[in-house]
Amino acid sequence: ETIVSQADRENPEKDIIEAGAKLIKNGGVVAFPTETVYGLGANAFCEEAIDKIFIAKGRPQDNPLILHVSSIDEVYPLVEKVDENMKMLMEKFWPGPLTIIFKKSSKVSKKLTGGLSTVAIRMPRNKIALELINSSGVPIAAPSANTSGRPSPTEASHVVEDMYGKIDMIIDGGSTGVGVESTVLDMSEEVPTILRPGGVTLEDLLQIFSEVKYDQSIISDDENIVPKSPGQKYKHYAPKAKMIVFTGDVKTISKNIKSQVKSLTLEGKKVGIMATEETKDEYNEGIVLVVGSRSDKDTIARNLFKVLRQFDELNVDMILAEGVDTEGIGRAIMNRMKKACGGDIRKV
Ligand code: TXA
Ligand code: MG
Repeated sequence: ETIVSQADRENPEKDIIEAGAKLIKNGGVVAFPTETVYGLGANAFCEEAIDKIFIAKGRPQDNPLILHVSSIDEVYPLVEKVDENMKMLMEKFWPGPLTIIFKKSSKVSKKLTGGLSTVAIRMPRNKIALELINSSGVPIAAPSANTSGRPSPTEASHVVEDMYGKIDMIIDGGSTGVGVESTVLDMSEEVPTILRPGGVTLEDLLQIFSEVKYDQSIISDDENIVPKSPGQKYKHYAPKAKMIVFTGDVKTISKNIKSQVKSLTLEGKKVGIMATEETKDEYNEGIVLVVGSRSDKDTIARNLFKVLRQFDELNVDMILAEGVDTEGIGRAIMNRMKKACGGDIRKV
């Protein structure tokens, strides 16, 4: 049996936090909200608990987990060293959607890091998460709380869908805010390198560093480049239907989608269109879901995974999606869309 408890995200109920913390301390698995997506949490110092996470998700063992802390002080025992740049990052962006890769200390099990000598750590900006970690008294290891390969959960109902009966508790704290997973930033090398784009953008990081790069695999179309972050090599976030993403000028995108919908519909296919506020009225065929507004891409990030899950429920045969530009959060949106469509991005 999985306990599902609704918690107040501004003022989390003490008894719920304590029940969750007790389960974590005793080696259980508890799903909890963060500001990005829901996490599937376990005591980072308990190897059996970590095993349970991999089993519940069906996750490959070589894909490492992120450690979640509730204060900067908790980082020191987990890492080899904290330099000035790392300190600056933590002070500026934590709590928030930034995961930092450090060289790990001996306290961190290789089970957590997929055999790597580095460890990923972040402090989430969500009261339920912070109080749960604090009350557990240990760092919480947590991947996103979806079944491996499915879109990450941004609402408790998504976690229930994927994890009910497989874990001890789900804390429902409503919809998450950012909607895409945290930025993963590698600080273990000379130049800070983004291994996964997310809520903290390249532009944000360039406010404190003169140079920041993207891992080659993020910006290149070459499928042979091996991503430095193990998780990026897997096909992720995939809806059940085949998906195609169109990029280019908005007018041309809609025109192309319209003609595709027409011919697919004639073939008898059920077609889903991932549209935006600005374009939704263009379409008069297909099942149109609005993912957000082009004038505020944060809204697109927030709804992306939910809309992918909705298309699954609607049992469409094909999803035609409008892409966005890669400025700011757009880079993270396009990174997730690329995974969802298995790389089928058409520049029109
Ligand atoms: O927003 C988030 O980061 C969410 C919430 C729950 O905190 N968590 C999340 O975890 O997205 P997960 O496990 O789904 O993704 C973690 C990513 C994976 O791509 C993994 O390969 C990468 O971080 N990662 C973890 N440790 C790493 C390391 N030592 N070096 C490189 N990449 C690492
Ligand atoms: Mg994930």
